[in-house]
Amino acid sequence: MSILKVKNVSKIYTTRFGSTKVQALSNMNFTVEQGEYVAIMGESGSGKTTLLNILASLDRPTSGEVLLNGKNLTSIKEKEISAFRRDNLGFVFQDFNLLDNFSLKDNILLPLVLQRKPVAEMEERLTPIAERLGIAQLLEKYPYEVSGGQKQRTAVARAIITSPQLILADEPTGALDSKASAGLLHVFREINRDGQTILMVTHSTNAASHADRIMFIKDGEVFHQLYRGNLTNEQLYARISDTLTVLAQKAEGAQFPPECQFNRTDSGAGLQKADEMYVS
Ligand SMILES: Nc1ncnc2c1ncn2[C@@H]1O[C@H](COP(=O)(O)OP(=O)(O)O)[C@@H](O)[C@H]1O
Ligand SMILES: [Mg+2]
Repeated sequence: MSILKVKNVSKIYTTRFGSTKVQALSNMNFTVEQGEYVAIMGESGSGKTTLLNILASLDRPTSGEVLLNGKNLTSIKEKEISAFRRDNLGFVFQDFNLLDNFSLKDNILLPLVLQRKPVAEMEERLTPIAERLGIAQLLEKYPYEVSGGQKQRTAVARAIITSPQLILADEPTGALDSKASAGLLHVFREINRDGQTILMVTHSTNAASHADRIMFIKDGEVFHQLYRGNLTNEQLYARISDTLTVLAQKAEGAQFPPECQFNRTDSGAGLQKADEMYVS
């Protein structure tokens, strides 16, 4: 069953006086099936953040539609959007986006507090998730008292505690060292095995090689897709590298070797509005 349908989505940004237009997404089409784990790759400026913002209902397409479980995101009334987002989506950000003056436990429970869930239900949901993510002993600590990897696992707990339809992750390993990245990718693999649908934007070939499908976007369009099939992570890694090389060779005015083209960090802003997503 498709959980997400992106149909003919275009996004044109117009500058304040309407003089300049930027086509960030160009008639984009794809679907995501229930239970899939999809990575999205593409150079800086290819439209990844624009796409995530639209999927997160933080922004609206200029044309086309996005259906989440059959519901058209563009038809949701402005005042219902925060609640819709809270009830249906989970977010994992590059910079964790935890609230510094909340304990890890309170950070994780925040979406449930906003949903006005009874305390007993919150505790009931928290325990297995904290154990699964290996942070059960850290719940009374504050973000500044734990490592980056532990912060990111806390953010994943916050994202999955509402049992969202879909997790949207924007460079979730971007601020982690290789050991913490491996831990996070292991966690994503496990929650995906439990049935959680995940859409992850990443620059990291290693991170993408843990997903089951990789969508490459270029100039606001889906340029190519790779499916894992029976490939191991190592084999998929090699396929992704080859695809990135081809993509980079086709890029105009490429000045860097292919690996630099894709490993540099995005200059543009990512999905970084946790307060807006969970609180407003
Ligand atoms: N608010 C905006 N106003 C005008 N142009 C924008 C805006 N946001 C993004 N763009 C442009 O849209 C294109 C896609 O950007 P973006 O979605 O941020 O790409 P990515 O996340 O892949 O780096 C780029 O050309 C970028 O400059
Ligand atoms: Mg971006």
